[in-house]
Amino acid sequence: HSPGLIDQFGRTAHDLRVSITEKCSLRCTYCMPEAGLPNIPRENLLTAPEIARLVGIGVRDLGITDVRFTGGEPLMRADLAEIIGLSSAVAEGASISMTTNGIGLDKRIDELVAAGLTRINISLDTVDRDHYARLTRRDRLPAVFLGIRAAQEAGLTPLKINAVLMRDTLAGAAELLEWSLANNCRLRFIEQMPLDADEAWARDNMVDAAELLDVLGARFDVSSPSREDPSAPAEEWLVNGGPQTVGIIASVTRSFCSACDRTRLTAEGTVRSCLFGDDETDMRGLMRGGADDETIADWWRAAMWGKQAGHGMERADFVRPIRSMGAIGG
Ligand code: GTP
Ligand code: 5AD
Ligand code: SF4
Repeated sequence: HSPGLIDQFGRTAHDLRVSITEKCSLRCTYCMPEAGLPNIPRENLLTAPEIARLVGIGVRDLGITDVRFTGGEPLMRADLAEIIGLSSAVAEGASISMTTNGIGLDKRIDELVAAGLTRINISLDTVDRDHYARLTRRDRLPAVFLGIRAAQEAGLTPLKINAVLMRDTLAGAAELLEWSLANNCRLRFIEQMPLDADEAWARDNMVDAAELLDVLGARFDVSSPSREDPSAPAEEWLVNGGPQTVGIIASVTRSFCSACDRTRLTAEGTVRSCLFGDDETDMRGLMRGGADDETIADWWRAAMWGKQAGHGMERADFVRPIRSMGAIGG
């Protein structure tokens, strides 16, 4: 049996996050610049068969058990169903999931599920339409609700909702939790990371998990965190005694880097070992140069061996990565 994706700090990657585009239908202030990201020339994007080839190598040869498609916004790719279909055909035993803003999902959910999609996480930071429009710079909240409903009707439950914590969403946090409980969604709040294209993130103005718990505590009884899977980013808290929960992904104040099990592919076909740090290994060039699967697997292993210990945000000499979230893959 060939070795998997291990690094010099003793971690093994089983979770592959594949960004398939840098395009998005929204312009969330914590992620994208107003104008969107520069276009990737079409020939520099991985094709559906190229993505599936890498997924296959990951699952067959490198021990990947979970594959997640991200972006940008994965629904921006017209060939998403083909990407999922070709990938799931070579990803036997692995789960195939997607993180999406949900816009337009209702029209495509059936073909995606038929292609092999098994789980979906939807990004939704507020259930207030005006606030949503300001935050995402697009008035699309009703479309997101349609997407959520459609995913649930297609059987992708329990659906997870991701909400990035910001100063001005803190006020709507209890309302969002109320909505999620009533609509059978598992809400998770995420501490904002310095990956916004506008570079407005500041540590001393960041809303952290402790502050969120204070706010939620005024309206709900939140208790008993338990982290069953140490590499799972979210800590689950029981709401009003359970069984329903609210999750908190405290990437900044309670980093889970030491248990990280992720490897990523960018839309341009580079392996990235961490969200942070700028080291990338070019798989597209290898594939187009005629490399065989074994050679590609070797380069992938080498890329992951060099993975940094953690994001390093707690250090005085922290530097943010050159790419923003939308360009790395959320
Ligand atoms: P599940 O398997 O459903 O739990 O998915 P997930 O939580 O791994 O994936 P999702 O795409 O929903 O990501 C949730 C949030 O975790 C993202 O919005 C990011 O803020 C954060 N996140 C994702 N990947 C990383 C990572 O590699 N490092 C850190 N520090 N945070 C990450
Ligand atoms: N910090 C934390 N999470 C972020 N996301 C996008 N930008 C950031 C950031 N700066 C989240 C999105 C989505 C996921 C893919 O990444 O809300 O849920
Ligand atoms: Fe893993 Fe890097 Fe994310 Fe930490 S910041 S959890 S090491 S990918």
